[in-house]
Amino acid sequence: MVNESAGPQKAEDVGEFFSSAWTVYRKCLETNMLRHREFFSLLWKELNSRIPPGGVVVDLACGDASHVISVFPKGVQYLGVDLAKPALDLASHNLKSAGIVHQLVQEEFQSFVKNYPGEACIDGVLISYSLHHLDSMSKNKLFIDILRILKPGGTLWVIDGIRQHGDTRDKWLERLWNLMSREGEGHLSHAELSGLKEHIWKSDFPESCPGYAAMALQAGFEIWEFLLEEGDGALGMFRALKRKAKGPANQVCAASNKTNA
Ligand SMILES: C[S@@+](CC[C@H](N)C(=O)[O-])C[C@H]1O[C@@H](n2cnc3c(N)ncnc32)[C@H](O)[C@@H]1O
Repeated sequence: MVNESAGPQKAEDVGEFFSSAWTVYRKCLETNMLRHREFFSLLWKELNSRIPPGGVVVDLACGDASHVISVFPKGVQYLGVDLAKPALDLASHNLKSAGIVHQLVQEEFQSFVKNYPGEACIDGVLISYSLHHLDSMSKNKLFIDILRILKPGGTLWVIDGIRQHGDTRDKWLERLWNLMSREGEGHLSHAELSGLKEHIWKSDFPESCPGYAAMALQAGFEIWEFLLEEGDGALGMFRALKRKAKGPANQVCAASNKTNA
């Protein structure tokens, strides 16, 4: 786990991100700079194989939900959470157009999960490109709260920055920035790239693979599996599974050598 501490997420900061940086973030999505296509195409398989018809999937920090709509199974209920009202307005339009049964909640995602009234009633939780805002302790607490609301056998998916073995935060920032500056060239202006860089340096605090695995297992998840690495090794996707019933002790599945990195 990293020791650097991320600053607290405030509603005004998130709102400010939306008003000033959302257009730039959209450009990142359109150029596939952050590998949404690859991660969400895998998520399509995951959702279809793991979420039963009528199940509920919570998308924490859902943004405009634009990537989820193309992979979300019909018949599954979508519950999106975001602090920014403009994000939810766009998400509402996108989800309606796609015919996805949905509910949207404007709330800070940690307090949403902590205060969620039901226990063990959610089939899946997704958090993409947003967990990195939290410091290590807050990520750990979030995993504990997510575990509480998941049904037995439920799944948590995380898509985010992941530090390679031996990467300090600075090294990871350099790795991510090499990717983003290379792929942003010709699509984003110099000012847009600078603003993006400033935001990332201020807000991004990813863990390593072993760090995420330890956090998930300490929180009480039964299995942690690394699923996909992308973006020159700066980005990754993993899932953590809640125990179905009585079974063997916690385990890390070696879906790739990332678990041993
Ligand atoms: C980088 S976007 C990610 C959007 C989407 N999940 C995706 O995969 O592209 C970050 C989103 O998180 C929201 N957000 C950031 N911090 C938040 C918080 N603490 N609580 C709720 N939403 C938050 C922002 O409003 C924004 O929509």
